[in-house]
Amino acid sequence: MENLTFSLSKGRLTDDVIKIFDKINMKTNIDSSRKLVFECNKNKFFLSKPSDVPTFVEYGTADIGIVGKDTILEEKRNVYEILDLKIGKCIMAVAGNKDISGYDFLRVATKYPNIAKDYFDKINKKVEIIKLNGSVELGCIVGLADVIVDIVESGKTLKENNLYVIEKICDLSARIIVNKASLNVKHEKIWELINKIKSII
Ligand code: PRP
Repeated sequence: MENLTFSLSKGRLTDDVIKIFDKINMKTNIDSSRKLVFECNKNKFFLSKPSDVPTFVEYGTADIGIVGKDTILEEKRNVYEILDLKIGKCIMAVAGNKDISGYDFLRVATKYPNIAKDYFDKINKKVEIIKLNGSVELGCIVGLADVIVDIVESGKTLKENNLYVIEKICDLSARIIVNKASLNVKHEKIWELINKIKSII
């Protein structure tokens, strides 16, 4: 397997993704330094903020990206989503600390404005979406918003802040995405890799 460029999410998923490469005996040379680009056997691996992975893949800077479904839905980039890696499983949910069933209009705090907008459009609920960049739970706690739209993994953050899931929006997990032109040009290499990964998940 040679000459593929990978864009990988820096953060929660990184260790699990490295384990997948280990299992298929693909060396990456990724270490815990502050370096951003690693090379091994002519393959390149670069680590970025998750939200930038689909951008690198759409523009062909990377042939392949590994990133959460949340980021794929939010970024709406023009890439192929090829495989569910079944790691980093969690849900996207509407959460809060009060019954909102009688509300005609909601203020929604979220790091995922597109996902929130798509969801509330679908259920015909009028909302004002307020973008936050982290610790989204605060939006509800301090009264900035009626509800939040956020990732729930263990549920610990919600619980410790007296919040609960009001509605699940969708299941999430890490996915492999591929640049559209790369899938044509490097068809064999990419499918060989995907099939190897498929066999170990
Ligand atoms: C995410 C998410 C929740 C938390 C959920 O935040 O936004 O806050 O994890 O995980 P849990 O259900 O296991 O408690 P993250 O830690 O990525 O950081 P952030 O708050 O800065 O976005």
